[in-house]
Amino acid sequence: MCGIFGYVNYLVEKTRGEIENTLLDGMQRLEYRGYDSAGLAIDGDKENEVLLFKEVGKVAALRKLIKTSSADVNKTFVSHVGIAHTRWATHGPPSPLNAHPHSSDVTNEFVIVHNGIITNYRELKALLVSKGFVFQTDTDTECIAKLCKYVYDINNHRDLDFTELAKLVLIELQGAYGLLIKSVHFPNEVIATRKGSPLLIGVKTDKKLKVDFVDVEFPDFPEITVEPAAAVSSATGPSLLVPLAGSDLRRSQSRAFISDDGVPMQAEFFLASDPSAVVEHTKKVLYLEDDDIAHIYDGELHIHRVRREEGQSTIRSIQTLEIELNEIMKGNFDHFMQKEIFEQPDSVINTMRGRIDFENKIVTLGGLSAYLNTIRRCRRIIMVACGTSFHSCMATRAIFEELTEIPIVVELASDFLDRRSPVFRDDTCIFVSQSGETADTMLALQYCIERGALTVGIVNSVGSSISRQTNCGVHINAGPEIGVASTKAYTSQYVALVMMALSLSDDRISKRARRHEIIDGLGKISKQIEEVLALNDQIKEMAETSLVNQKSLLLLGRGYQFATALEGALKIKEISYMHSEGVLAGELKHGVLALVDEDLPIIVLATKDSLFPKVMSAVEQVIARSGNPIIICNKDENAFSKLKTTYRTLEVPATVDCLQGLLNVIPLQLMSYWLAVKKGFDVDFPRNLAKAVTVE
Ligand code: G6P
Repeated sequence: MCGIFGYVNYLVEKTRGEIENTLLDGMQRLEYRGYDSAGLAIDGDKENEVLLFKEVGKVAALRKLIKTSSADVNKTFVSHVGIAHTRWATHGPPSPLNAHPHSSDVTNEFVIVHNGIITNYRELKALLVSKGFVFQTDTDTECIAKLCKYVYDINNHRDLDFTELAKLVLIELQGAYGLLIKSVHFPNEVIATRKGSPLLIGVKTDKKLKVDFVDVEFPDFPEITVEPAAAVSSATGPSLLVPLAGSDLRRSQSRAFISDDGVPMQAEFFLASDPSAVVEHTKKVLYLEDDDIAHIYDGELHIHRVRREEGQSTIRSIQTLEIELNEIMKGNFDHFMQKEIFEQPDSVINTMRGRIDFENKIVTLGGLSAYLNTIRRCRRIIMVACGTSFHSCMATRAIFEELTEIPIVVELASDFLDRRSPVFRDDTCIFVSQSGETADTMLALQYCIERGALTVGIVNSVGSSISRQTNCGVHINAGPEIGVASTKAYTSQYVALVMMALSLSDDRISKRARRHEIIDGLGKISKQIEEVLALNDQIKEMAETSLVNQKSLLLLGRGYQFATALEGALKIKEISYMHSEGVLAGELKHGVLALVDEDLPIIVLATKDSLFPKVMSAVEQVIARSGNPIIICNKDENAFSKLKTTYRTLEVPATVDCLQGLLNVIPLQLMSYWLAVKKGFDVDFPRNLAKAVTVE
């Protein structure tokens, strides 16, 4: 999905080559989000010259293109603004033209990078075309750049400040955006703003910041503002001329950036849609909120808003990021996905760290404690998610039902919204998301907030939109997940959801023995994951020899293992591009059996639980049709000795039934990985997919 990166240096001398590298490296850190083209804008050699470089494909291709440019890489800039973007196509195919930055005109007076979607771009485009603007691209974004120039031109006699200009432009935009604006009219300044799309600013100064927050600046006369879309509907744009009275913006000084000796402070700013692009430069970051307009100039960061709203915070704090760069690097592994699969013994511990007292069998989730009683009293729990996160909800639904005795509904966010499913004030809605930015899940969250339900986030990315907009929640603490195919986030979401069910039921005596059994199981799970990872070579061989040339693969499971079958099938589809389907074993006879022959590979999840006999009857049905299953079963059990001599098996340790999916999914993650490697596919960046899908 699209990524934004911007770099501002103030009184810190940098060569053009250094600036280009900072921008390119920043974009490379965002690669994991998935994208199909990339571009950047920097200053040229002449006054008022902006150079744009855009290329289809990876950042490496853009780097190559820039190398062919005649611009002097040794030219130095004491102060400079560069903006960059990785694009995932929504409006118009991947092409250099459609890649960002987009420009207002041939001389690049305004250039912008944008994440999100402008829903009224057709109306804006019609207005701008009627004013003589010529559009070059198929994107919705281009209209923002052109609107900037239009607003600037019709106000040029009034000496607009960059913030005033941005306010006049933003008021016309409908939809979602994370946006950086650079302009030749405001050299070495940048506007960064967001609505529904994440954006943060990393700050690096030579001196210590005076305070660790930035004041939000409001207009003195908030009532004088432009009505949204008024200018567009009149098609004349007169309201774009309305002054924003009282906004003498330069009179203020940002308290954080005041130096004692009155000497201007050297500063660098790193603007990004994701902290992973910033963390190697600075740990001091400020997350923008929706509708914040950040204006960076003269080494200072100012945050403005169009209007003051009741109860709104008047500061934005500058936080210290905890994530380490090596946490987001590949280490000794060939791919991020492989690293993340092998990290699972640690990541599940990180999810439980400080939250489970194994000795006294107590689970404490700080982010939920104030809400536990409300949740216990709710009429129903609705779990909402997409993709892998949806599967973690499926995997834990039964244990939630068993421990809480509250009806549980699991919903795919898009379908939930399509149905406009009824939600009530006494519902608890749990939103599960690795990125915390998935558009469908976010929209479902808004939908539930509007209906007054209690909202809970189970999220990996700290500071993400879902983690900030829910009433309460649990961070899964799995660490950054870079591979597009989610692995460690799945097992950590699973653990977090089980912990939540345990926490909700800790007042029930009748559930005590069951709870203790599960807590003991969680205490051993990390070691058991390590044991399963030892199957790596066996799985690699199986993938490379008997599976790689197959067209299709079925996974059978029931009960707790249905979710594992679905998640395994998703992994295999996502990265090895092999058709695969997770089938509820009980449904086999209702259609799927027709597919079975001696060639179709069928993986059966047949670990020991109360449904084992039923799963074995599905195996018999497969074998009776000359099928040749691969069976994931438990180790060292007499019941399995026949299986092991008759069929191909992958043996995993046994745990409590509701936790067995944590172990069973790992051979499937490894299988998808080795299938993709053998086929020579880009494991971390599968075609057509994105890590965080921030569009509907
Ligand atoms: C995308 C990713 C999946 C992920 C899904 C939900 O489709 O490719 O790996 O499971 O989004 O993402 P979330 O960040 O909300 O868990």
